[in-house]
Amino acid sequence: MNNFVYHNPTELIFGKGQISVLADKVQKLGKSILLVYGGGSIKRTGLYDKVIAILQEQGCTVNEVAGVEPNPRLSTVQKGIDLCKQNKIDWILAVGGGSVIDAAKAMATGAVYEGNVWDFYSRKAVPKGALPLGTILTLAATGSEMNRGSVITNWETQEKHGGTGTFPTFSILDPEHTFSVPKDQTIYGICDIMSHVFEQYFSHTENIPLQTRFAESILLTVIENAQKAIDNPNDYDARANLLYCGTMALNGTLPVGVVTDWATHSIEHAVSAIYDIPHGGGLAIIFPQWMRYVYKENVERFKRFAIHVWNVDPAGKSDDEIALAGIEATEAFFKKIGAPTRLADYQITDEKIDEMAKKATPFGPIGNFKKLHAEDVAQILRMSL
Ligand code: NZQ
Ligand code: ZN
Repeated sequence: MNNFVYHNPTELIFGKGQISVLADKVQKLGKSILLVYGGGSIKRTGLYDKVIAILQEQGCTVNEVAGVEPNPRLSTVQKGIDLCKQNKIDWILAVGGGSVIDAAKAMATGAVYEGNVWDFYSRKAVPKGALPLGTILTLAATGSEMNRGSVITNWETQEKHGGTGTFPTFSILDPEHTFSVPKDQTIYGICDIMSHVFEQYFSHTENIPLQTRFAESILLTVIENAQKAIDNPNDYDARANLLYCGTMALNGTLPVGVVTDWATHSIEHAVSAIYDIPHGGGLAIIFPQWMRYVYKENVERFKRFAIHVWNVDPAGKSDDEIALAGIEATEAFFKKIGAPTRLADYQITDEKIDEMAKKATPFGPIGNFKKLHAEDVAQILRMSL
């Protein structure tokens, strides 16, 4: 195990009815609020009205950025930064999925920065401060509610990059807020959560039994609850377990002391920068192909994955056969729950493969399990067509 420092300052407030803590947060953080939300789901579910009622009762002044896009755009982030700078905003409240939270993080860091917030995504600068951010999460997927990452798309240059944002001060996770998540987004969220675990599980770091078993527990819990949430969107326990898995998969618990990978996320970001496809859908397509491309780098790890996660019976099988059975089980699971399996499902052909491969590797080779150059990425994308 490698050395590590673990610090996560986000207060996680989990469960039914926890929105009531918002009043207390206003007292602590201030009454001038920028409310950030997406394309309207929170208005349809009534969550917007509940939030506004609490804020009004507390005598807050509320400015709003509505319409944050899935794959949130720099132009929308800029609107929020302008509002913060013009209105002496005390803190930002993001209500929605990962896109809303990521956009709000960029607004929070950009609001106290003189330069262009894109500097934090093009690796020109690192944020030195941020406005406080609270979140009310409505979709189990990204883990953005308890990490400092933020992924923004610069639509003009067709670049999508993860950058350093800011940890939320607090995040409210009520499983009932996820009952209304449509079937397709539920599926994408499941694929994203599992992919976050894969990125941190497939590692050459040795002697990490606790991190390994944490990762396997998250995968097993997602696998157990996925179909239940898809079949019965109002299943509180299934939604609650997926929600908590989403947070734990990417809140800094899994990567401590471990060299992690993240190549597949870079590849997916390059695909969605050009084709604007759902993040979890792209991952479901690309991850099994990445696994096939790299598994020989550490067959033992893939054997363990097959046996411990997918219950593959090793009897009578070669090492390669066991490893490949685990990869096939992953692919079969994604297919069974209704995730896309080929880039063709999004009408993506080989036309822009080289462009995507270049976009996936703008700062040099990606990944650690196997270092991938643009030619490797192109090969994985071809396998995904
Ligand atoms: O925009 P609204 O109307 O709110 O609708 C959203 C959106 O259309 C809808 N939705 C969310 N909660 C709902 C709901 N619909 C009904 N009921 C609810 N309760 O779902 C759609 C997708 O939302 P979005 O926020 O885009 O999804 P997700 O949470 O999967 O976020 C995806 C974004 O996060 C980035 C991705 O790249 C992508 O841009 N990521 C962020 C990460 C991070 N910050 O740590 C890590 C991830 O790997 C990921 O890259
Ligand atoms: Zn992801």
